[in-house]
Amino acid sequence: MILVFLGPPGSGKGTQAKKLTTEKNWPQLSTGDMLRTAISAGAHLGLEAKKFMDLGNLVPDSVVIGLIEDRIRSPDCIEGFILDGFPRTVPQAEALDGVLLKLSRKVDQVVFFEMDEKELVTRLSGRRTCTVCGKMFHVTFGPFHNQEVCEQNPLCNVIQRSDDLPEVIQNRLEVYHRSTAPVAEFYKKTNRLKSINAAEKPEVVFQSLKNLVK
Ligand code: AP5
Repeated sequence: MILVFLGPPGSGKGTQAKKLTTEKNWPQLSTGDMLRTAISAGAHLGLEAKKFMDLGNLVPDSVVIGLIEDRIRSPDCIEGFILDGFPRTVPQAEALDGVLLKLSRKVDQVVFFEMDEKELVTRLSGRRTCTVCGKMFHVTFGPFHNQEVCEQNPLCNVIQRSDDLPEVIQNRLEVYHRSTAPVAEFYKKTNRLKSINAAEKPEVVFQSLKNLVK
């Protein structure tokens, strides 16, 4: 099963990909996480990508396509995988189809995370992430955070992502409408797009997701 999670920033793609990975054992391939790892490692690619990410702009297609192409050839991707945050432009979607064709594979389903823009801003501006254990929290949505786990671990380091500041969030949403929304049309034309209501509570969204991905 090759799944693509598509939707605006903050719609819960990463949260749901993590849950599904645990249940199905398909790895979560998040280009955002890969780029942030490269930044933390001080890699040249990461430092170049950071210039785009800090402003809320997209990293050039050639960079992310190269990252994904290498990753999907890994042995743990044989049974299936979840693409979270890729493709984000129509050229990326076309490149993905090309790479998969060479491997005699294809995208099986594209799940579109549908939700209202005002709520996205609340979610993104309240998000906190632990740079050590990778856990994600929200300052408002109580039942959803695991803050106590990080508070009990002296090694944990909870931060606000630099692209979750208000002015950057605004640009990310504009970039989404300009460059990523057309990707939904691309998949709709080939009958691969299914939508879920991403505004519900996490467990309700997860149930909708499981109903789609049987
Ligand atoms: P990336 O890391 O992919 O960010 P994004 O797509 O903007 O998505 P987010 O991680 O912000 O949101 P999400 O939908 O995963 O929501 P989440 O589950 O975290 O990309 C970052 C940057 O990297 C890009 O701007 C770009 O520069 C670069 N990049 C990455 N991929 C690229 C590509 N393919 N091409 C070019 N550049 C690329 O949830 C958000 C918050 O809401 C959390 O606090 C969570 O706890 C909370 N939450 C989640 N679900 C719920 C719910 N149901 N109810 C209440 N709260 C919820």
